[in-house]
Amino acid sequence: MTKYSRIIGWGKYAPEQILTNQDLEKMVDTSDEWILTRTGIRERRIAAPEETTATMSVQAARAALDKAQLRPTDLDLIIVATSSPDHFLPAVSSTIQDMLGAKEVGAFTLTAGCTGFVYGLATAHQFIASGTYENVLVIGAELISRFVDWEDRSTCVLFGDGAGAVVLTASEMPGGVLSFVLGSDGSLGDALIVPSIGCKEPISQKVLDERTHYIRMDGRRVLKFAIRIMSKAAVEAVKASGLSLSDIDLLIPHQANLRIIELTRRHLGLPEDKVFINVDRYGNTSAASIPIAFCEAIEEGRVNEGDNLVMVGFGGGLTWAATVVHMGVLETLPRLVAWRFVPVGSLSLEEMKVIARATMDSLVFKASALLLPLYTKTGLRRRRK
Ligand code: ACO
Repeated sequence: MTKYSRIIGWGKYAPEQILTNQDLEKMVDTSDEWILTRTGIRERRIAAPEETTATMSVQAARAALDKAQLRPTDLDLIIVATSSPDHFLPAVSSTIQDMLGAKEVGAFTLTAGCTGFVYGLATAHQFIASGTYENVLVIGAELISRFVDWEDRSTCVLFGDGAGAVVLTASEMPGGVLSFVLGSDGSLGDALIVPSIGCKEPISQKVLDERTHYIRMDGRRVLKFAIRIMSKAAVEAVKASGLSLSDIDLLIPHQANLRIIELTRRHLGLPEDKVFINVDRYGNTSAASIPIAFCEAIEEGRVNEGDNLVMVGFGGGLTWAATVVHMGVLETLPRLVAWRFVPVGSLSLEEMKVIARATMDSLVFKASALLLPLYTKTGLRRRRK
């Protein structure tokens, strides 16, 4: 029998050390003004030397389990989304399973860049909806500061470390995870890449000399992709859930860049109070960004029982994913709609408006350097109020 998968626990962990834009000004040729206007980031967290992706994950997972009032031994499956695991082998998910004191249940690591957490939610949902498992832990964690080239100003100002976790449980009550959209376009893979240290180019002196073991990014290509895909994925997930955009109470986007978030909000036609933003305080924590934002949104009273949330992200791959989650009992839910494609040619007026706004922005993208002050300054001014 198909079951509903409800989020009953959530937790986050952010390292103590704060690295501000002013600190970065002393490290590379950059400025607070450049970072703030291009990204909306003011500061990010950096893990201490003794911390790892596993230790941060365990902190977030314990908080999520406490909230869910479950013990680690109640878990049936552990899914960890990360692109910065402790080792290639063993999988960090197994390390986390052991550190948590969970039973010898299945645990695996999933890599889909910053989109990984939503991929993890989608996967957990399948195991629960099929009746296979009761309690699944999904973690998004990233210690990306150790894969960043601290001499490359175009990437090192963007990222931060952290972890977020949720516990999903099987329920007979309609609600929980309602729908998914997952996607990838590997033809854009080189836009965000660690060029070496995989099997294609193992570690060597040449790699170290050329610093290709660090993240390289073509920021403009990623930006263009993100602007196109975020609203598209969100609207498809909303449609697949059987809801409409007007039913959405809060959008929790991947926190990569305030400009991308603002444009996504505008494309979707959502008011500012329906979008959660914390990129200013954490930077881009990749797979941890959405679960950390989800936890903070709840902590700040932005999520109430009965709310419909959209989580949407993009990342290395390039990948994208969106999901709609109902946070309480929804008596009128027509039926559980698992991941499905939205048929072409059946667009509602609402969808057409979103596509029109997104298309318009794509057209003006090439001139976006000129429009940048308009997007960022208005966004930042509103945030400061
Ligand atoms: N400080 C000062 N100048 C810088 C910095 C910096 N930190 N970094 C780059 N620059 C310079 C460049 O050298 C370039 O100079 P040039 O024109 O003389 O060659 C110039 O700034 C580029 O400026 P813009 O074109 O205005 O930069 P843009 O508007 O593209 O903004 C940014 C750059 C912020 C990286 C943007 O492209 C972006 O946000 N892209 C998406 C990035 C993203 O979201 N990545 C993560 C995605 S996936 C994931 O989350 C893992």
